[in-house]
Amino acid sequence: MRRLGCKEVADAVMADIQKGCSGLRRMPGLAVILVSHDAASETYVRKKEESAIALGFEHRQYTLPETSSEEELLSLIDTLNCDDAIDGILVQLPLPGHINEKRVIERISADKDVDGFSPVNAGRLMIGEDSFVPCTPKGVMHILSYYGIETAGKNVTVIGRSNIVGKPMAALLMQRGVDATVTVCNTKTKDLKEHTLISDIIIVAAGAPGTIDQSYVKDGAVVIDVGVNRIPDSTKKKGFRLVGDVDYQSFENRDVSITPVPGGVGVMTVAMLMENTFISARRRQGL
Ligand code: GUN
Repeated sequence: MRRLGCKEVADAVMADIQKGCSGLRRMPGLAVILVSHDAASETYVRKKEESAIALGFEHRQYTLPETSSEEELLSLIDTLNCDDAIDGILVQLPLPGHINEKRVIERISADKDVDGFSPVNAGRLMIGEDSFVPCTPKGVMHILSYYGIETAGKNVTVIGRSNIVGKPMAALLMQRGVDATVTVCNTKTKDLKEHTLISDIIIVAAGAPGTIDQSYVKDGAVVIDVGVNRIPDSTKKKGFRLVGDVDYQSFENRDVSITPVPGGVGVMTVAMLMENTFISARRRQGL
């Protein structure tokens, strides 16, 4: 088994962004809004903050109480949409149940939507126009390119059809120039193996540990593990450990390349957010 570590890939992206910032008139500005205070969201937001600060971005973190109204959140977004120092606005998902996620995402100005979740950016991606591409699928494309993994004419199975990962992932793989033959599976798929066993690349974003073990994968294939799951583990200081959606151990003696968790796709997601924010800043400065 070959481990496709992503830390070095992310570090290279961060170094390029740092270089690119020297050509800007002002540093990129990123606003991150957190409303749901679950442990995973707090961790993700902290990692985004650390990376933005490391790059010298203008970083603003808005931590709202979980009881905040939708109107309060929308009004903060309106203010940030008009703030010239802010190039990227990110509302960490999921939101508390009383807030309409769709209305919130639609309120973010399309030219500051560095998550690429708004209907305008999702639509542009689908028709192959320039857009903000959602960070996780963009990171996966970057990993494939970094490791020289060919996509043209290859069978690729995407497991999961979320708006954040599965759908934009499939759209990217279908693009002219990428040219993969894409299958998108979901929890109702009758026989997952029927699809995965003929796949050259499998992208697993199911949100469930052990979704894929070695029996699902043919020799020579590439597996990209997008899953991030917390498993209780009393031997760890935090009381849990992170595992992906792939049963990594089962591949030990197989000729398969796999991204690890942690140290895989997750680090790329954060780097891609920084890249999208940098692109937005450059664009908004007319450069
Ligand atoms: N929740 C899980 N992943 C993401 C992401 O990429 N962006 C935002 N805003 N929320 C998330």
